[in-house]
Amino acid sequence: MASPRLPSVYNLVTFEAIGSTNDEARALARQGEEIAPDGTLVWALEQTAGRGRRGREWHSPKGNLYISLILRPEVPTKDAAQLSFVAALGLYDALGTLSDPGHQIHLKWPNDILLQDQKVAGLLLETESSGEDHADWVIVGLGLNVASFPKDMPFPATSLRAENWAVSVEDTLQAFSRSFLGWANRWVNDGFAPIRQTWLMRAKGLNKPIEVRLENETLKGTFIDLDEDGALLLDQDGKMRRIAAGDVYFSEG
Ligand code: BTN
Repeated sequence: MASPRLPSVYNLVTFEAIGSTNDEARALARQGEEIAPDGTLVWALEQTAGRGRRGREWHSPKGNLYISLILRPEVPTKDAAQLSFVAALGLYDALGTLSDPGHQIHLKWPNDILLQDQKVAGLLLETESSGEDHADWVIVGLGLNVASFPKDMPFPATSLRAENWAVSVEDTLQAFSRSFLGWANRWVNDGFAPIRQTWLMRAKGLNKPIEVRLENETLKGTFIDLDEDGALLLDQDGKMRRIAAGDVYFSEG
């Protein structure tokens, strides 16, 4: 394996195979800042118990990118979730630097990346706060389908290779590590507003009819905005509904 070259703010911890990089990152983060400072990046070539949002399994064979980044931002706990939008912009830009112009990349609420309208990457954010109103740490878990993807998913998936895009896992890790830094600095300096605005410009389905599947109900309406916490605002015949968690499906291409 070629060793990726990352900016010096990262502290890379590499595994051939592991259960879940998010679980490993959490165990490290709990040991404190000395062991796992801000910027500790856990990378595994393969996961045996990869996790997705809402308790789902994350397909994790060798050949794809699996990373979990430990961050220790000085922000109120409720703002920590904004980091998944920061990371989505980082990955969008990273793919842009690696791609030829023919590839169509979009962001899908809350934290997926689409390639040619199919899911190519997902983010899983986890945080812990010891009572005070700021997060002790935030873990940004990222899975990117470089070489393979799961079949028969409710929302169709793809991989970079399936779209004839020949890059290595190391290339994607290097590119993401650089572009994430740029957006993280922007967030620290200017807050969520520019992140939200850019995310919306790159989102799929804005101002279009969508379906949002919640735990026990399915909502239909028009995706009109994100609020300042990153919740989706759905217009249902003039009535606004705020959605904090759910799965989005598009009614038209
Ligand atoms: C989703 O779309 O449901 C989120 C998927 C997140 C997967 C990544 S792979 C690296 C990290 N470790 C995990 O167990 N999950 C995240």
